[in-house]
Amino acid sequence: MDRIRIVGGRRLEGAIAISGAKNAALPLMIASLLTKDTLILDNVPRLADVSLLQRILGNHGVDIMVGGKRPGGKVDDGQTLHISAADIVDTTAPYELVSKMRASFWVLAPLLARMGEARVSMPGGCAIGTRPVDLLIMAMQRLGAAIEIDSGYVVARAPRGLKGGEIVFPKVTVSGTHTAIMAASLADGTTVIENAAREPEVADVALCLNKMGARISGAGTRRIVVEGVAKLNGARHAVLPDRIETGTYAMAVAMAGGEVLLQNTRADLLQAALDVLTRAGVAVTPTNQGIRIARNGAGLDPVEVATAPFPEFPTDLQAQLMALMTRARGTSQIVETIFENRFMHVQELVRLGARIQLQGERATIEGVERLKGAPVMATDLRASVSLVIAALAAEGETLVNRVYHLDRGFERLEEKLGRCGAAIERLSG
Ligand code: EPZ
Repeated sequence: MDRIRIVGGRRLEGAIAISGAKNAALPLMIASLLTKDTLILDNVPRLADVSLLQRILGNHGVDIMVGGKRPGGKVDDGQTLHISAADIVDTTAPYELVSKMRASFWVLAPLLARMGEARVSMPGGCAIGTRPVDLLIMAMQRLGAAIEIDSGYVVARAPRGLKGGEIVFPKVTVSGTHTAIMAASLADGTTVIENAAREPEVADVALCLNKMGARISGAGTRRIVVEGVAKLNGARHAVLPDRIETGTYAMAVAMAGGEVLLQNTRADLLQAALDVLTRAGVAVTPTNQGIRIARNGAGLDPVEVATAPFPEFPTDLQAQLMALMTRARGTSQIVETIFENRFMHVQELVRLGARIQLQGERATIEGVERLKGAPVMATDLRASVSLVIAALAAEGETLVNRVYHLDRGFERLEEKLGRCGAAIERLSG
């Protein structure tokens, strides 16, 4: 079981290349099921979740070729996947695979739209919450699918194909919006999706689907209209930059002090998070190469933040901000409004000397002068990276256990931070 060892106190200087977005790469790979042709995806991050999804898609009969190194290729270039779902031989997604990575449940919509049937294991809960899928099922039913739950599986049928319809989400759901868009792309007629998720990853998937011949308008806004088409074709698409990785490294620099250029990324993908960092006293400077982050000597000011759907402050950066605020000159408040159990990093941060009080969905963080390194344990991928951020400023050595969580969402983290001067290494075994 790999661990990561960090000795705190080093400033960060240099540049970090941001990888393609995990939360766009996964639905983009799943979108390949919608066509017999080959979908080519560039800038795909090298992550455990991507490798697992390749296995899951293989179970349906999908062939995936991973492009090799090209002349002049650099380690920071993402990988290119050639994905071909010419023949879908199995419309069942088994529990033993879906339970390993929740987003694999999203194969439901393309399997149903393309094959008229799908049998997908319910994903089950996870560390951060119960994560129901009732709104994804509702969306399919609104497009004419017959759905039943049988022995822990969602069994969906649409033998005469899906029909366009109106889908109104009672709450913003990224997975629900992805599901609705993919299913509607091949439905007969027009679908209107109200209260859609506006996350950049949703807009990126819609952009790729339109390259494949879909007719989607309004992606990235609350109202999306999809004109169904008979079939989709192959296309080539580059995954957009990972805004959560961007925000994570920005907070790492803010915590450790120093100056780092975050390359191949865009400020508009995470403006709310960058505004919070500016309020905390961090210098945030968008450039045409990316975003320059600096904190030289100035202390950190406390902030008050509530997580919310895009374009507000993302829940996937909540743990990282909390780690940063443990060293602010004053008391901060963070409210988690998306998931019901996304504070598991709190007790681990307290082990490093943080002062944090929880009242329901609200965390009160009283800044402290110093953190002290200690062995800590990760519980989910964003919680695990919040411990790395805290360790960068903690005195002495911190050992972060259960590093497999990190590998799910952060490509070559110790290399990217190490190249900027952090004392960080992976201990195998
Ligand atoms: C996506 O999860 C992301 N995962 C999550 O990132 C992210 O935290 C989340 O969106 C919110 O931004 C991927 O994109 C792979 P939701 P998703 O459907 O789609 C409730 C990470 O760290 N809900 O927007 O599953 C749900 O319980 C991960 O990379 C229902 O009630 O999130 C939650 O409270 C963690 N019924 C809220 O909606 C449903 O049918 C938002 O969930 C679906 C969701």
